[in-house]
Amino acid sequence: MLAVIGGSGLYSLEGLTVEDRRMIETPFGYPSGEVVTGRIGDSPALFINRHGEDHSIAPHQVNYRANLKALAEAGATRVLAISTVGGITAGYEPGVLAVPDQIVDYTWGREHTLSEPGGPILHVDFTQPYAAAWRARVVDGLSAAGLKQGAVVDGGTFGVTQGPRLESAAEIRRMEGDGCDLVGMTGMPEAALARELGIDYATICPVANRAAGLSGETLDFDEMTVVLEACLAPMGSVAAQLA
Ligand code: HPA
Repeated sequence: MLAVIGGSGLYSLEGLTVEDRRMIETPFGYPSGEVVTGRIGDSPALFINRHGEDHSIAPHQVNYRANLKALAEAGATRVLAISTVGGITAGYEPGVLAVPDQIVDYTWGREHTLSEPGGPILHVDFTQPYAAAWRARVVDGLSAAGLKQGAVVDGGTFGVTQGPRLESAAEIRRMEGDGCDLVGMTGMPEAALARELGIDYATICPVANRAAGLSGETLDFDEMTVVLEACLAPMGSVAAQLA
């Protein structure tokens, strides 16, 4: 079953007929909000927003473990995660929807594994951090949903920072040197936890801005939301292709 994890700007999913909303307690505590259960066409699907319905949970405070565990308990086998980002390299311009294929994790202090003291230690393979076949389906789903040529970028390295502040220009230069194409705050540990749970996981990154120091301007989160709204408008149609 498909589960969509909404990020900034995506608090519900157009086309999802809601049948139930449930707060699911997990061994890791409570998720960011109720898990919404419903149908997209004939197919069952789930939805949650990682920041909560009122966007009150900062990226470093999200209970990623509870979110993933709650979705798994509700029956999710495939997760489509939406993570808003800034673009670093050429081609990742504001307005683009990128489907990254690699991750560099700069986050710290987040509960990032389901391994527990005394329990099995989960040394999962993370060579390809996104489930390859599912990621390819997501790319196809974007074209099938009618996204124009150039609006979608297949691939890229997603550098995940701690937030909630945006980066310094030097941090972005360093990230570019590290091979990052995109910068955002929520891609990890979500992807790794999905792998630990055996859930196929892929991400669509709406590019809201050029990353710090690249546009010659200071960054304004409110301006980003305008770009984001346009980027996120087709998400219901994309989910309909993937349910
Ligand atoms: N950096 C980090 N996270 C972001 C950005 C950014 O430039 N834009 C949107 N989310």
